[in-house]
Amino acid sequence: MSRSVSAPKRRTVSSKKVLVLHGPNLQLLGERNPSVYGRVKLATINERLKTQAKQLKLSLTIEQFNHEGELVEAIGQAQKEFDGILINPAAYTHTSVAIRDALEAVRLPAVEVHLSNIYRREAFRHTSLISPVVDGQVSGFGPESYSLGLTALASLLTGKSRKR
Ligand code: DQA
Repeated sequence: MSRSVSAPKRRTVSSKKVLVLHGPNLQLLGERNPSVYGRVKLATINERLKTQAKQLKLSLTIEQFNHEGELVEAIGQAQKEFDGILINPAAYTHTSVAIRDALEAVRLPAVEVHLSNIYRREAFRHTSLISPVVDGQVSGFGPESYSLGLTALASLLTGKSRKR
């Protein structure tokens, strides 16, 4: 009688893919309004996020756009490629129905972040059109807002934080 021995099954662990989107003027971080946004450059924030992503076993794609339409397109295409979105919509937070609708349409887990505490600033920044269509918001911790946001998104993606 012959016995067939099959190779042990390997579990392939595919890491979750996260799209990080930075909105308008964030390329100027480090020199822009340092009393509000601090002196840390966007490149440094991105490096920190990449290091953190490795620890969280996430694969990260990072983009910065100044134009609303580019952000809308990136969000629209994210559905095919990504498992979640970390977004600082910057000034579009307070104005963009188009970005809001795109996030609502793709229905990916998403976290909104802001360096500054938008609720402590001018009244026009107190409204976020984005918050109602994302899973949560982190606001006011400087560059740390991004890492807190990424941790929260990772928990959502691995099912460790289920609200619904
Ligand atoms: C910001 C807050 C927005 O009100 C502002 O327009 C920005 C940056 C923040 O990260 O604190 O550009 O999103």
